[in-house]
Amino acid sequence: MLRSDTASAFITTEHEIPGAHSGPSHRLSAAEAALARHSVRVYRDEPVTDDEIRTLISLTGRAPSAFNLQPWRFVVVRDQTTKNQLMAAAHGQKQVGQAPVVIAMYADMEDTMAHLDEVVHPDLDADKKASTIAMLNRNFGGMTPEARAAWANNQSNIALGYLLLIAKSEGFDTSPMLGFQADLVKQTLGIPAHATMTAMVALGRGADHGFRSHRHTVERTTSFR
Ligand SMILES: Cc1cc2nc3c(=O)[nH]c(=O)nc-3n(C[C@H](O)[C@H](O)[C@H](O)COP(=O)(O)O)c2cc1C
Repeated sequence: MLRSDTASAFITTEHEIPGAHSGPSHRLSAAEAALARHSVRVYRDEPVTDDEIRTLISLTGRAPSAFNLQPWRFVVVRDQTTKNQLMAAAHGQKQVGQAPVVIAMYADMEDTMAHLDEVVHPDLDADKKASTIAMLNRNFGGMTPEARAAWANNQSNIALGYLLLIAKSEGFDTSPMLGFQADLVKQTLGIPAHATMTAMVALGRGADHGFRSHRHTVERTTSFR
């Protein structure tokens, strides 16, 4: 178990983490996964099961969002022809065609707005539910579809961070991408035109460890007052 008061003794590479590449039976803590995760762009030819994907997406869905709107949506792609089309839309990035799974992640605020009853807390009484839905309709109904799509994508990015970290924790490697033609990806996957693409994520068991991470220090990014 990693302890916050032993920062200098932190594991710094996945090579030092027992079980980092040995699959879900060796789940990594959040801190271990944060240290072990790198973008990996070459994958072993090993399938990822639907159950494994369901676990990942279920845990990803635990991400918080403002008003609990959860505007993120996923398309899980395994079909090779479709992956090849996505690879072409992603400027030929090979990991898209080569990974066993590609997850296209997007934010759909119009779907969210059409089903607000799904996101209000079930413990609220009927009056409070109705007033919450009315408030949300006022809030977001007053925005342009483009502005609320951008707002929703900010929320979806929280879930993207969860997905990358949880995937590593569960024994998978990932390559998040924004280098693609969003319209072409939407067209290929039947994603609504009004949606905002959050990312494509190639996912599988890595055949290499990716590049060593290079990050700002806490001093560079943080001030304490
Ligand atoms: C939203 C997002 C989009 C990215 N797009 C691409 C991409 O299109 N192609 C690529 O090879 N890497 C892409 N990356 C990977 C970044 O270059 C990488 O995360 C960064 O250099 C840090 O390296 P690390 O992920 O190994 O820690 C993307 C990462 C994020 C979070």
